[in-house]
Parts: sequence; C-alpha cells; structure tokens
Amino acid sequence: ESKFSKTQLLIKKKILITAGPTYEAIDPVRFIGNHSSGKMGFDIALAAAENGAEVILVSGPSSLSISHPNVRLIRVQTAVEMFDACDSVFDSVDVLVGAAAVADYRPKHVADEKIKKDADSFVIELEKNPDILATLGNKKKEQFIVGFALETTNEIEHAKQKIVKKNLDLIVLNSLKDEGAGFGKPTNKVTFITKNFDIESMPLKTKEAVASDIVNKIIEHYA
Ligand code: CTP
Ligand code: CA
Repeated sequence: ESKFSKTQLLIKKKILITAGPTYEAIDPVRFIGNHSSGKMGFDIALAAAENGAEVILVSGPSSLSISHPNVRLIRVQTAVEMFDACDSVFDSVDVLVGAAAVADYRPKHVADEKIKKDADSFVIELEKNPDILATLGNKKKEQFIVGFALETTNEIEHAKQKIVKKNLDLIVLNSLKDEGAGFGKPTNKVTFITKNFDIESMPLKTKEAVASDIVNKIIEHYA
C-alpha cells in the first residue's frame, strides 16, 4: 500500500523528473560520481503518479526501481545523456522537477583503455556539463519548474540566485546543517522558496513526506 495520497488532481498532467547521480567516465572502468541514491526523485515520481500524473522519470545510476503504470523510467549514465533525454520531451510536459545530483563537470578526454598506474601523479582535465534546468528553464513556455539547491553558505541568497538564473518557479533548498538530513539519510530538512521569493521553512521530515509536500505544491499551482 502506498504512502502517498491518491487525489487524481494531477490527471492529464505530464511531469518530467530527474533523479540520482550522473557518472562521468574517466576510462572504461572508472568514473566521477556522487553519493545521490535517487530516492528523492523516485519518491516524487511515485507521489505524482499516485495523484494521476503521467510521469517520465530520467534517472542516473541508482539501485532503486519503480513500478507504476503511470511512470516511464529512462535510465541514463551521464549528464549529457540526462540532458538529451529531458530535452527531447520537454516541449510536451507540463512540469519539470530537477531532483538529480548532476555532475557539474566531466573529464575532457575519456581514455579508450584502462589507465595504467605508470605515472607518479597525473591531472584529469574537466569541462563543464550542460545545466539541464537552466537550459530548459530559459526556453520554457508554460512549464512549472521545480529545482533543488544544496548550499553550505548564504543558503537563502544562493538559492534565490538559482531561481533567477535557471528561471525556476520553486526551489527546494536542502539544509545540510541538520543532522538527519542529506545523502543516504531517510529524512530531509527543506525550505521552499517561490519565484516571488516567498520563504517557507519545513520541519525535519521523511523523504516520502517531502515528496508529498512537493507534489502538493504542484497541485496547488494548478488549483
Ligand atoms: N542541475 C541541472 N544540471 C546541472 C547541474 C544542476 O539540472 N548540470 C540542477 C539540479 O538537479 C538542481 C539544481 O540544478 O535541481 C541546482 O543544483 P546545484 O548543484 O545546487 O546547483 P548548480 O547550479 O550546479 O550550482 P553549484 O553546484 O555551483 O552550487
Ligand atoms: Ca552543482
């Protein structure tokens, strides 16, 4: 039995969600990645689907799976693959939620063969990945776009800058200051900031409860 409410208030709405980390290859056996489990994005996908939305979930490498008739899961590895998958459907969706922990950079050159430990030290040159939310945000028409932000200093100010830069409607600021929040934890402490800079600080909650809150914000937007 699902932990999410089933209002059907998102029926006929198409929601694109990014989730998980991205893996950026260094050579055939090594990559640059991060500790994102994908749980936040998968929970949002299920909550949206339970409320009647048609969901496209684009996930980087994650051990999670999802089984709901309203959810189409597209698995990708890299930020560029995630961008391409999102860009190809963006014009047809109503909502975009960027819950992925996208790698900001990728190795500029990927070695064809496994790198041998011949050198005493070596440098990997990195180049910037596309910013999925910023690119799609700046070409959006009617889409409602939700982003996440992870900050360690001037949290609110930096999150507001991301709203403007990426043309977001809502940002979910993850607070790392709380012991129970963040990567690998079952709980999150978030602050919602709207495009009008209205601020709402939420108490520590399970990731399922945070997912419900985010889906309720989407429902309110269409109410
Ligand atoms: N994001 C994205 N594509 C990227 C990087 C980030 O779509 N290449 C999205 C994330 O999914 C998240 C939001 O942008 O919803 C903010 O991500 P975050 O890492 O906090 O911000 P950045 O813009 O990458 O800036 P920085 O890491 O320098 O703080
Ligand atoms: Ca980043």
